[in-house]
Amino acid sequence: MGTQKVMVLHAFVLSVLLFRGCGCAIQDGMLYPRDTETRETKDLSGVWNFRADKSRNRNAGFEEQWFKQSLFRSGGVIDMPVPSSYNDITQDKSLRDFVGWVWYDREFYPPYSWQNLKQRVVLRFQSAHYYTIVWLNGEEIMEHDGGHLPFEIEVTDNLVYGQSNRITAAVNNTLTPHTLPPGTIEYKTNTDKYPAGYFVQDLQMDFFNYAGIHRAVKLYTTPRVYIDDITVISDISASTGLVNYNIKVGGDVDGNDVICQVDLLDKDGKTVSSKKGLQDQLSVSKAHFWWPYTMSNDSAYLYTLKVSISSGGSSDLYRLPVGIRTVKTTNTQILINDKPFYCHGVAKHEDSDFRGKGVDLPLIAKDFNLLKWLGANCFRTSHYPYADEIMDMADRHGIVVIDECPGVGITHLENFSNKSLTHHLEVMEELVRRDKNRPSVIMWSVANEPASEFPQARHYFKSVISHTKQLDPTRPVTFVFNGGMDIERIFDEATEFCDVICLNSYYGWYSDTGHTEVIQLQLEYNLRQWFKKRNKPIIQTEYGAGSIAGIHLNPDMAFSEDYQVEVLQEHFKIFDKLRKEFLVGEMVWNFADFMTAQGTNRVVGNRKGVFTRQRQPKMAAYILREHYLSIINSTSQHSRQ
Ligand SMILES: *[C@@H]1O[C@H](CO)[C@@H](O)[C@H](O)[C@H]1NC(C)=O
Ligand SMILES: *[C@@H]1O[C@H](CO)[C@@H](O)[C@H](O)[C@H]1NC(C)=O
Ligand SMILES: *[C@@H]1O[C@H](CO)[C@@H](O)[C@H](O)[C@H]1NC(C)=O
Ligand SMILES: *[C@@H]1O[C@H](CO)[C@@H](O)[C@H](O)[C@H]1NC(C)=O
Repeated sequence: MGTQKVMVLHAFVLSVLLFRGCGCAIQDGMLYPRDTETRETKDLSGVWNFRADKSRNRNAGFEEQWFKQSLFRSGGVIDMPVPSSYNDITQDKSLRDFVGWVWYDREFYPPYSWQNLKQRVVLRFQSAHYYTIVWLNGEEIMEHDGGHLPFEIEVTDNLVYGQSNRITAAVNNTLTPHTLPPGTIEYKTNTDKYPAGYFVQDLQMDFFNYAGIHRAVKLYTTPRVYIDDITVISDISASTGLVNYNIKVGGDVDGNDVICQVDLLDKDGKTVSSKKGLQDQLSVSKAHFWWPYTMSNDSAYLYTLKVSISSGGSSDLYRLPVGIRTVKTTNTQILINDKPFYCHGVAKHEDSDFRGKGVDLPLIAKDFNLLKWLGANCFRTSHYPYADEIMDMADRHGIVVIDECPGVGITHLENFSNKSLTHHLEVMEELVRRDKNRPSVIMWSVANEPASEFPQARHYFKSVISHTKQLDPTRPVTFVFNGGMDIERIFDEATEFCDVICLNSYYGWYSDTGHTEVIQLQLEYNLRQWFKKRNKPIIQTEYGAGSIAGIHLNPDMAFSEDYQVEVLQEHFKIFDKLRKEFLVGEMVWNFADFMTAQGTNRVVGNRKGVFTRQRQPKMAAYILREHYLSIINSTSQHSRQ
């Protein structure tokens, strides 16, 4: 098959494909802002002024040009932490459930030392949900469509030194048929039942639509001629590690005038390989390969790629963490470094009390400690790209990631339009650009549970998957299939384009609720049918049951902790059996309880977590831990290089 052929091509050929072959719309590299000898960052996170535009048409902010002066002059503002979701910060229900534009601003002083230096200053939002417009000192400087990925613009000439500058951002959380995730605004026009102009946001996904400036806002400098992008593709030849690199230089320069020095440093800072030139291959004999977490904490070895360029009088330096590892698939296995990898992990959410989806470092650290305690070695970024800080930790701790884009809830026939498709391709470009160098990322997921039974889904997913493979020919690509039904009745148009079949099913929960006795039969049948149908490795990407922490029933019933335990244990029996055949992973739904929209089947959110939303274990967490530790024990022959 095409996929496998691509994957066994020499990585250097791949790198040429990767760097030259794609007609990507996105030009700039957008490396993560880091302090180096030649670069400085200034974090604008903190408490910003905030105001929701509650005018009937949600348009007062534009009509009255709130961006022209300090936001407080437009009317009342409140304190709003950045980063955070604004929804749960106040006691105001109408703000929690608000739909439309919210406005933020703050004043700041650009460091005086940045004045008159020969450098660029860039303003970057790590993410804001969903549609964002940004003004600097009253001038619009950028817009971004999409809720989970960074965007930035050079502001060198917009900043005023020696006085206060004002940044204003308007953020709109409205989901439409063409956003990812999609949604619709429903106008309730029956004036017997609703006030005039009444509308609600209908969601097609099962999590709360948290909104606001969710990740840090930063200023950073680069020299005038700068390292715009770095792409690394690692390979392994016996005990030798190979790092193919390609560097893109930005600024006013002819590539031939650039002098480039690239050094690979080990953990002690010792140079283990060096090259000159923008594109080449570094080679490390007796390399430390990157390997997933197996209860010892030193498996995820990271080197540092130190890139220095100079051109004329200008020079730039950037350090990128690099793991040396390969990923391949066969029809029954995922191979990391040519060894079989079995994923035992969780599906997650970025979700917590008060902050919603706002980046929270204590929570991130706690979650990784819980993952390790569980013996988990992987997670899926269900159902949108997670913060860089989370991905950094995955790289450092050896937690493997299935990196999912926000393509969740593509469930309506009409929503496979070409307008939606175009946006989906752009989101994949932004995601691959951000995460392509991460060793933890072993697979891209382009969607969760789309309505892939419609004939229109074929063109749609064929396009998204082949585009993603063009952007990155080194990783498998998948989407997650809603596979909890009888296979004969599934008319699936798109899983044939996936390298790995990812299935969600909820035997004993959404079907045959209360009947754990049928789980083994149905689960094994479903998995075997899918393997027979597609002849590809399978991951059970979701399964589970809801439980309210503290409810115990014997004999058990749905929503008791006891029932959740029993559902999991029935699944383990089949997973243990099929692991020896074609099953390459299991991920419980969900790591922790999380908030959803209100509804009669959700008890203050989704309760399928093995941890509560406050990160305390339910009984299921102990059972899962025992199961994962026994998997680690029985596969420990693979845990060492
Ligand atoms: C902003 O929100 C309003 C209210 O939902 C909506 O009508 C409008 O289309 C939204 N604009 C954008 C760009 O999302
Ligand atoms: C690995 O780290 C976890 C927590 O992060 C700790 O509990 C555990 O003891 C460590 N294991 C080893 C072998 O150092
Ligand atoms: C989208 O565009 C393709 C190619 O131009 C075309 O074949 C397809 O019918 C279009 N799909 C829709 C839903 O309009
Ligand atoms: C895993 O193996 C270790 C060492 O052999 C043993 O002490 C431990 O009980 C085993 N754990 C499980 C869950 O099987």
